[in-house]
Amino acid sequence: MKRTVLFVLCVATLVLQAVGRGSASAEDRYINKLLSQMTLEEKVTLLHGNSTFYVGGVPRLGIPEWAMSDGPHGVRAEFNRHDWQYAGWTTDSATYLPTGTAIAATWNVDLCRSRGETLGEEARWRGKDVLLGPGVNIIRSPLCGRNFEYLSEDPYLAGELAAAYVAGLQSRHVAACVKHFAANNQERWRLENSSQLSARALHEIYLPAFKAAVTKGGSLCVMSGYNRVNGIFCAENALLARDILKGEWGFEGVYMSDWGAAQSTVASALNGLDVEMGTWAGHYDDWYFSRALLQAVRAGEVPMSVINDKVRRVLRVMYRTRMIGGQRRFGPGSINTAEHQHEAYREAAESIVLLQNTGGVLPIEKSSISSVAVIGDNATRCHSFGGMSSEIKTPYEVTPLQGLQDRLAGTAIDVRFAQGYVAVPRDSVVATAVADSLIAQAVAVARASDVAIVCCGLNHYYDAENVDRDDMALPYGQAALIQAVSRANPRTIVVVVAGSPVDLVSPSLCAPALVWCWLGGMEVGHALADVLLGEVNPSGKLPFTVGYTLDQYGPHALGCFPGNEREVTYDEDIYVGYRWFEAKGLPALYPFGHGLSYTQFAYGEPKLSASSIAQGDTLTVSVPVTNIGGMAGKEVVQLYVEDVACSVDRPRKELKRFAKLALQPGQTSQAVFMLTAADLAFYDERQARWTAEPGEFRIHLGASSADVRQCVSFTLAP
Ligand code: BGC
Repeated sequence: MKRTVLFVLCVATLVLQAVGRGSASAEDRYINKLLSQMTLEEKVTLLHGNSTFYVGGVPRLGIPEWAMSDGPHGVRAEFNRHDWQYAGWTTDSATYLPTGTAIAATWNVDLCRSRGETLGEEARWRGKDVLLGPGVNIIRSPLCGRNFEYLSEDPYLAGELAAAYVAGLQSRHVAACVKHFAANNQERWRLENSSQLSARALHEIYLPAFKAAVTKGGSLCVMSGYNRVNGIFCAENALLARDILKGEWGFEGVYMSDWGAAQSTVASALNGLDVEMGTWAGHYDDWYFSRALLQAVRAGEVPMSVINDKVRRVLRVMYRTRMIGGQRRFGPGSINTAEHQHEAYREAAESIVLLQNTGGVLPIEKSSISSVAVIGDNATRCHSFGGMSSEIKTPYEVTPLQGLQDRLAGTAIDVRFAQGYVAVPRDSVVATAVADSLIAQAVAVARASDVAIVCCGLNHYYDAENVDRDDMALPYGQAALIQAVSRANPRTIVVVVAGSPVDLVSPSLCAPALVWCWLGGMEVGHALADVLLGEVNPSGKLPFTVGYTLDQYGPHALGCFPGNEREVTYDEDIYVGYRWFEAKGLPALYPFGHGLSYTQFAYGEPKLSASSIAQGDTLTVSVPVTNIGGMAGKEVVQLYVEDVACSVDRPRKELKRFAKLALQPGQTSQAVFMLTAADLAFYDERQARWTAEPGEFRIHLGASSADVRQCVSFTLAP
């Protein structure tokens, strides 16, 4: 009997292996056949844009055009094919999801996956084959204009979330294009300057999110940055593209240029660029990977094998997204459905971070108030169509004011609005008399109301592509407004609408409650109202450190941001975000990972599966967490590793795992984490590889990088 079972198992395994091999080789066979039928001209057609967002196809062989769209938090409206004007369609509005830092603040991998699925559905509906996202560059400085599109200052958090997004998106047979590879951490001089950084900083901080998106998420495309890394443009950087991405990580997909980021023909072709995309609409023949590439091949400067490899990659992505190969596609997709709008709501609701809540101001008890003052330009401003390439034409956007009005409709509570400040483009000036009179109006409304909610922060004049901010200050005199309103009404709640770290010192001192709701997508107003009114228990956690001052952050303390048009040196090296704050013993106003709840969580005794592990072993760490308050809530349990003694300097803590637990009042759950030696390693520049040195390691378990609740140690055996 046993033998028969074994025999059946063996046969089944062999059949499965054969099927597996069969499908892999079916892909190869299909691609090889196409390739063998293509002329050089046809091959080159597949390697560069033929319009703003398309790459040409080969109709006689059934190879379609390749359609792309921005990304990363919605499918962008349609452009004219040959210029940068919107096409004016009436069918291209799309779900506007919370932007990068907002989704990162959820610390929820499952939500990132469903975000990807939603985006995939919408991209399919719009006939797009590649969505240009997620953006995973590290938030190195609070001032980078594109922080709002990115995820975190922490490479592990960014990588986990990005991998889930990619997997979700690609499950709908739309390719992800993770961007901007690599070390593209500022907008100033982004087209020319060089990020000068150590191999260690590159490997430990700036590459891991890309690596996770590629190796764990399976991203089929990667977009180059505009910048140079250590002197070499990303689009022609052999170390980045050829050696690391395609070599070490085994990336089988397409490395494409950011729009206009290619700078050469031969160097780019030889060093790993596969597809050139561009902004010089209308001059496609003049692009580097067009006529010039044909000539380079004919002159023997670029071998045919290199071209074939690139074409194979394009066809592979097409095959895997079922554009070719006679495979059934996933379905027509769907757009602007109630389900997608609910996805926007769920993400927004989980992204909201309760920064501070003294005196029990939040949640607002509806029965205890009869009026609420909603103040500030961000109470009524729509943010969807801003920020540049990530702008979304959305069918609607619920602002904070609208959200509160909707949720309080039918009650006796009077919602009053005051403008508070004028939001003008940067460098425009608002007359002092106007600003003063708006503050006076806001104060009067706040004084006459039971609760005051000031919606402050940034907008897309500040959180924007192509421009960095000059400082962390809240623009438009908002600090003064918040002070005046807080003085007029002790129950003042400050709502921060921003995608990047801002200066919250003064608001934190004068207002009892602070809530961060980000650039939170089309449903943010409803999500915010539900958090403020206690219908949703906040569970977001900061994906970056909010310091007291700008010069607390490494690049600013060292004066190396933004550098000059030639280069920016990363003198802080691996000490980015909380790594720097902790190394320097600096307090943060709101540390990385911070976020309060309306309930409380207690962390019990952690347990390890062993007190010592060997290099190949797995260590299991578990910690019981109990909801000891009176409301159901979610806690993000964070696990940081500390290398107690090491031959090189290491951060005090590095995030290595996290888990979001949903707990009813009184309920206890275990957060269970598995670690291997790889999680203990640093990038050893002397040996040019990752190394975990034997010795003692300490595990910090807590509710933020600064709020460690439990510690436990183990050793890595030699
Ligand atoms: C941006 C990319 C974007 C591309 C296409 C570039 O300027 O850097 O993120 O995907 O334009 O719009």
